[in-house]
Amino acid sequence: MKDLISITDLSVDELESLIKKAMDIIDNPDEYAEKCKRKKLATLFYEPSTRTRLSFEAAMLELGGSILGFSEANSSSASKGESVSDTAKTISCYADIIAMRHPKEGAPMVAAGAASIPVINAGDGGHNHPTQTLTDLLTIYRERGRLSNLKIGFCGDLKFGRTVHSLIEAMCRYEGNSFVLISPDELKIPGYLRAGVLDKNKIPYLETDNWDNMPELDILYMTRVQRERFFNEADYLRLKDVFILTADKLMSAKDELVIMHPLPRVNEIERAVDEDERACYFEQVRNGKYMRMALILMLLGIE
Ligand code: NCD
Repeated sequence: MKDLISITDLSVDELESLIKKAMDIIDNPDEYAEKCKRKKLATLFYEPSTRTRLSFEAAMLELGGSILGFSEANSSSASKGESVSDTAKTISCYADIIAMRHPKEGAPMVAAGAASIPVINAGDGGHNHPTQTLTDLLTIYRERGRLSNLKIGFCGDLKFGRTVHSLIEAMCRYEGNSFVLISPDELKIPGYLRAGVLDKNKIPYLETDNWDNMPELDILYMTRVQRERFFNEADYLRLKDVFILTADKLMSAKDELVIMHPLPRVNEIERAVDEDERACYFEQVRNGKYMRMALILMLLGIE
């Protein structure tokens, strides 16, 4: 049995076959409509979500399976003091696969250790978000036709933004990629990523606090400043609007730039940018469901 806790739990070959599978599902949805008949997905969400939870549920429903779960910790026995391990053991008696989001880093890994069914990390604190990365990889592949030799700009909250961490880990595994990391000094990527992933693998990157490198970028991945992870509101208020993407700032960018954002957006992308043909964040949303369908099939061992 396999879980998905970190994006590196999947080999590059497995990533490729998930992308292929998702594209096949897009082209032939009817062939997949009954693949998960009688299978159940449990969504255990201890933190707010719109896209991730609903796309998991839509994915399972489109595969002909069914869904159960909770969307806030308060409505589960966590509010009575039950541990994540006990909850995971319990859910293993009812469902065939779990997608879990939790505010504590490592909680889905603990659940995976206790569950007897596959566990998918749907976001753990400010740490990882591997299924958003699957969504992002499919988006980049569909927009650019490749996952290698790209210069990727990440902008915003690179410290707490878990989607950034997982996507950097994924893109480091493809040849010729480099990164421009645009953020205020206090919101730079965590040290474990800088030393343990970028430096260790000799990946070219630049950390900067301005937009000067815009003309070189192939991908621009915007992120929200993660208010819920700040220790005090004053710091959040000071940092939240430092980087706002406007139509003006995009004047110097490449015509084929791909503008991405995992959403939800607060105000880090001006609404006018939505009209720009290079804006792909709502395409990303669509791709999420297909990649999650492909993932569920893989983890359940269904051809
Ligand atoms: C992201 C998350 O939850 O980490 N959203 C998502 O899953 N698409 C990004 C965010 O909340 O800023």
